[in-house]
Formats: sequence, C-alpha cells, structure tokens
Amino acid sequence: MMTQDEMKKKVAEAALAYVVEGSIIGVGTGSTANMFIDALASMKDKIKGTVASSEVTAERLRSHGITVLELNDALKQVNRLSVYIDGADEFDPQKCLTKGGGGALTREKIVAAASDKFVCIVDSTKQVDYLGAFPLPIEVIPMAETLVMGIAHQLGGKAQVREGFTTDNGNIIVDVTGLKITDAQALENDLNEVPGVVTNGIFAHQRADVILMGTPDGVETL
Ligand code: A5P
Repeated sequence: MMTQDEMKKKVAEAALAYVVEGSIIGVGTGSTANMFIDALASMKDKIKGTVASSEVTAERLRSHGITVLELNDALKQVNRLSVYIDGADEFDPQKCLTKGGGGALTREKIVAAASDKFVCIVDSTKQVDYLGAFPLPIEVIPMAETLVMGIAHQLGGKAQVREGFTTDNGNIIVDVTGLKITDAQALENDLNEVPGVVTNGIFAHQRADVILMGTPDGVETL
C-alpha cells in the first residue's frame, strides 16, 4: 500500500511529462510542488527558466540551480508561460480547486493566469464532490479583516484569522469553514468583489486543465 507521500512523489514525477522544453514554466507551492521541484532538477538545462508562486518555492528552485525569473521579466521574453504545475487542497468534478493551505494563493492565481495550461498534482485524498470541506483561505488587506469576517459569517461560514501568518504580499489570511460550495465560480466572484479581499482560494476561473491524481494503484490523469 502506497503512503500519501509516495502518491505525491509519483504525481510529481508524472508532471515532468508536461514540462515544455525550451519554455518558461510556473511552479507552485506546497509539499507536492516541492517534490515536483526536486524532480525538475533532472531537466533544469532543458527549460529557459521558472516563475515561482512563493518565496519558499523560489528558494527551493534556486537551491537546485534552477533559474527563477520575476513574472514581469519572464513576460518580457515570452507571451505566456507554457504550463503551471501546482498542488491543491481540494478538487471537484469540474476541476475547480481550493488552494491556499500554504497561504500562497494570490501569487499562485497570478502565475496560473499567466500560463497556457494548469497541471494540478494531487493525491486521491483531495477529491471531493463539492469544495468547502477544506477551510477556504482568503487573502485580505489587514484593515479589512473585520469587514471580510462579517461577510463570511453572512454567507454561513465560520471565519478565523490564520494566527501568526503574513503572506508574501504582507497581508493576512482569513480561513472560512462550514461552506458547501455548490457554485464555485459565483462564490469566487462574490468574495473577490468585497473591498479589501486580494483574492480567495477558489480556483474556478483558473481551474485545472489536467489533474494528475496519485492513487494507491498509480497515477490517474483526469
Ligand atoms: C499553497 O498555498 C496551496 O495552494 C497548495 O497548493 C496546497 O496547500 C497543496 O499543498 P500540498 O501539496 O502540501 O498538499
């Protein structure tokens, strides 16, 4: 029986097949993305470079001698990143995701939006019918904390500030539990309209194009 870590490693390695040689790729954040970064080291000379979705990821990429570019600099060289490879906290049958367990959701969404294709690497424990079992992270400008928490309560959720955590952009994360998200795209839009919300962890607009799911029997492509 494969452990969760072994499943993560398998999907991380399977994602190498989606790396477009000679291009700049986007790289995500989290334990599965870390395994992808370690695997990517074996083909670092075949890509032009990477754009990282967090400071932690940038550091890990550099530790392997992999080129890391700022997104704005990368987009002066190429129109779009070829592919974005990242994990998720949950995914639904429409390939909508919850992300931001590691707090990097905003940069993740930016890099995903700048990429032609989003390949999401997960293990089968992340599969759900509806998003919402995993607390939904919202990146919030600190001044708007109380406002956003009030709105989360009105939506039927229970909101909590992530203690002792500041995002790479200098903001706070509000985690919302108790939401059964039946219309991911509508909730993504509604939350993003609240002043002070930088972005929320629903990836419906930037949903995955391909999901590589690690199961005890191997990797499934969805
Ligand atoms: C980071 O902010 C998240 O969006 C990650 O993609 C997510 O938490 C997945 O992490 P694991 O691969 O560690 O489960």
